[in-house]
Amino acid sequence: MPERTLVLVKPDAMQRGLASEVLGRLERRGLKMVAARLLQIDEALAARHYAEHVGKPFYQRLCSFITSGPVIAAVFEGEDAVALARRTIGATDPAKAAPGSIRGDFGINMGRNMVHGSDSPESAAREVALFFDEKDIVNWERSVDGWIVEK
Ligand code: RTP
Ligand code: MG
Repeated sequence: MPERTLVLVKPDAMQRGLASEVLGRLERRGLKMVAARLLQIDEALAARHYAEHVGKPFYQRLCSFITSGPVIAAVFEGEDAVALARRTIGATDPAKAAPGSIRGDFGINMGRNMVHGSDSPESAAREVALFFDEKDIVNWERSVDGWIVEK
């Protein structure tokens, strides 16, 4: 069963001109982009998106950072999309993220880690609905390089 995941290209990646790098790596991993929009997140949306972090010491910083500039919100689809995207993104702390992952190659610190990826299919469903109506999600077929068609 294909899964969906919500990706946010965060304001630091936008500022550094790395949006295409982030989205391109997820595309090249084989995930299919089925929705995308560029927007500036307001306080209310930040609070809903980061509801699970309310009360944590970094919560205020997180909300002020995510609202500080434009982001690209995108939905990627594929088998195990949540886990594949998280592996491609790398560990939360760029200092611990594996080289070859987005954060391992470009991340600067915990607060400037370039990209958000949903942490479970349940989170993904909740987060996708914050940014997109179901009608905004495009149903299309993508042939993936290297796909082996069994005869
Ligand atoms: P994300 O939600 O952005 O994909 O990141 P994540 O799942 O890897 O990390 P999460 O625990 O959900 O934290 C959300 C974001 O909060 C910032 N953070 N700062 N101790 C800290 O200062 C701290 N811990 C987390 C990070 O920017 C993280 O991406
Ligand atoms: Mg998270």
